[in-house]
Amino acid sequence: DAERSPGQDLAGRQVLISAGGTREPLDPVRFLGNRSSGRQGVALAEAARSRGATVTLVAAHLEVAVPDGVTVLNVSSTVELQQTMREAAATADIVIMAAAVADYRPAAVQAGKIKKDVAGDRLSLELVRNPDVLAGLVEERRQGQVIVGFAAETEPDETLRRELGRTKVQRKGSDLLVLNRVGWTQGFATERNEIEVLDRAGDIVMEASGTKLSVAHRILDSILQVVSPA
Ligand code: CTP
Ligand code: CA
Repeated sequence: DAERSPGQDLAGRQVLISAGGTREPLDPVRFLGNRSSGRQGVALAEAARSRGATVTLVAAHLEVAVPDGVTVLNVSSTVELQQTMREAAATADIVIMAAAVADYRPAAVQAGKIKKDVAGDRLSLELVRNPDVLAGLVEERRQGQVIVGFAAETEPDETLRRELGRTKVQRKGSDLLVLNRVGWTQGFATERNEIEVLDRAGDIVMEASGTKLSVAHRILDSILQVVSPA
C-alpha cells in the first residue's frame, strides 16, 4: 500500500495481546501467582501501536504502565483471561499470548481465610489443571488470523531448548512461538530480553536480544512475514 507511511506496516490490523501473570485465588486474601511483570507484552503493545495497529491488551496484574492509545481489559485468573481472550479474538487479525498463565488452580476457593488452628502444622493444596487458552484460541482461529505463543524455558542447553520449543509449537498449533530464555538472562522483571522465534515446523526464523521494546519490534517483524496481505 503506497499510501502508508514507512513504519506504519500494521495500519488497519487489529492486534490482541495478553500480558502479565494470572493469579489463582486460594481464599479471599491469598493467591497462587508467578513472577511475570508483563513488560514484554506491554512492549509489544507499544510497538504495535506505534506501527499503526489497533491494539487491545488483556492485562493480568501488570507491574508496568500501559502506553497511551491501547485498549486495556483487566483480568485476574486464567479462566477470566480465557473468557476475555476468546471474545476479543473474534475480531483480531493477530493474537499474541505473552501472558504467563497458571497451569493449575486450587480445586476449591475457600470462602473464608484459611486458618492455622484449623489447618494445623501441614497444609496440602489440591490443584486442578487450567484450560489451555492458547490451544483453545488455535481451535477457534478465524480465517487468516495469526496466532503467536510464548514459551519461557529454563533448559540451559541450546539444542535441548530448541527441541522443547519445536515440540511445544507443534503441540500448540500456533503459527509462531517466541522462545524466551528465562533463568539465565533473568527474563522476568528486567528491561532486556533474549528471544528466538520458531515457525510452526519448529525452525528458528528470528533471533533477537536487547531492550524489550526492540525485541518487540523484531517479533512484530517475524509476525508480518506470516501475515497475509491486507
Ligand atoms: N498458555 C495458555 N494456557 C495455559 C498455559 C499456557 O494459553 N493454561 C500459553 C502461554 O501464554 C504461552 C504458551 O501457552 O503463550 C506456552 O506456555 P508454557 O507455559 O511455555 O507451555 P505449557 O503448555 O504450559 O507447558 P509447560 O509449562 O508444561 O512447559
Ligand atoms: Ca506452563
